Amino acid sequence: MTQLRTGRRKYYDIFSHFYDAFIRLHSRQDEDDTRDLLVAAAHLGGKPVPRILDVCCGTGAVILNFKGHYPKSLAIGYDFSSGMLRKAQEKDVSGKVVFVEGDAAELPFEDNSFDVVTCSHALYELKGETRQKALLEMKRVVRPDGYVLLMEHEIPRHPVVKLLFYVRMLSMGLKDAREFVKGGLTPLEAVFSRVTLSHSRTGKSKLMSCQK
Ligand SMILES: C[S@@+](CC[C@H](N)C(=O)[O-])C[C@H]1O[C@@H](n2cnc3c(N)ncnc32)[C@H](O)[C@@H]1O
Repeated sequence: MTQLRTGRRKYYDIFSHFYDAFIRLHSRQDEDDTRDLLVAAAHLGGKPVPRILDVCCGTGAVILNFKGHYPKSLAIGYDFSSGMLRKAQEKDVSGKVVFVEGDAAELPFEDNSFDVVTCSHALYELKGETRQKALLEMKRVVRPDGYVLLMEHEIPRHPVVKLLFYVRMLSMGLKDAREFVKGGLTPLEAVFSRVTLSHSRTGKSKLMSCQK
């Protein structure tokens, strides 16, 4: 892992202590909506043992929700922050989710091995090259009939929150931020053969549903 990523990992290790409280404060309703939207978009009904991978899983909200819906699934949460993973493990009281530490740009899984790969509110946190590699890795490990589900924030409407959002985006670097905000679906359509867009009920998040 590069030195830059080691620094970012440490940042997330510290952030892990406040992350859930921060989310509760800012977007609880949206988080509930987005988790349900992800489960619905995964089309896992009828699969006896669905295989689910959540990349950049953070404190585990998405993968634990999937495991709740599909108790027989193989559910893996993947993140490079040991702090985030520790918090996720504490919440997984049944110990049924597998948590793996590693970089989104290098997934240690075989080709075509998951029915669904999710990445929620994290793509914008990745630098351009890492983001591109991560997208290609997610495409590689999802099954031909599976889905890569990417959930991202919409640009906020409230002026103060909007300003904070842009400041956060700028931490990616000006070029990356501009590409990400303006790029829309184009960067994804360059990787996946089919990309469809939907929105959470609150209008705060958008879901890009991608197929190989
Ligand atoms: C904003 S949090 C989102 C967490 C979770 N997906 C959610 O929706 O609550 C971003 C997560 O991405 C992880 N992350 C950032 N860069 C990463 C990378 N290169 N490889 C793996 N995880 C990464 C961070 O550790 C953090 O847990």
